[in-house]
Amino acid sequence: MNNIDAITNLYTRKEQSLQGGQARFDRERENKHILLSFANSIQERDIVTYDHSRRVATYAQRLARYVGWSRRDARDLALAALVHDLGKTWIANDILLKADTLSDEERKTMERHPLIGARILIGCDVHPFYVETVLYHHEAWDGRGYPSGLKGEEIPLSARILTVADVYDVLTSQRPYKAALSEDAARERLLSGSGASFDPMIARAFLNLLDSQPQFTLPQRICAIPSTAKTAYHVASSVRL
Ligand SMILES: [Fe+2]
Repeated sequence: MNNIDAITNLYTRKEQSLQGGQARFDRERENKHILLSFANSIQERDIVTYDHSRRVATYAQRLARYVGWSRRDARDLALAALVHDLGKTWIANDILLKADTLSDEERKTMERHPLIGARILIGCDVHPFYVETVLYHHEAWDGRGYPSGLKGEEIPLSARILTVADVYDVLTSQRPYKAALSEDAARERLLSGSGASFDPMIARAFLNLLDSQPQFTLPQRICAIPSTAKTAYHVASSVRL
């Protein structure tokens, strides 16, 4: 059992020992306050990541509702999505803001962001649901993701939903180094990644939503990328999340 698992189990036992609805209500309110504070800190650090996180939260919430989650659970997932890239706020600027392709070493550093984000949340005593969702949002259905290389249903469902929402937004977003893909092109990428990067059931559900709602793709903020934030994304041939 690794540190994260041990701490998560501890939280679960602690949660089970909470008595009565008031304690639960207080805990939920406190969690929300903490997570929204972190979302604000992301906004201060990097407006592009913040806007991306807001869109991902909306997609993830819609997708969760579509696959049968309650309104409350879907709202919790949206909160997790708002801070899914929290760990990036602790990545040094010379890597985070680098305009060129990352070296292998730099890429490894960037890939620590789910773990960093999860550790920050653990330190703030938030519910393990949020910790797990942030920690595993870069895992892949075929086991080739990170940080743990979890496979299939070993990956929490919340993270599998978040992954699809996250990738779709990156694909359809304009970046200083790339144009936004059309909905059709992004749709094809999700389809080709189904069963590899994505849980096939979740990818299918997202595509159904996309097909059934003409205005599904959220607009980018007009002139959203201030000059100071334009370098916050690296030039890369593959999708960066
Ligand atoms: Fe991420």
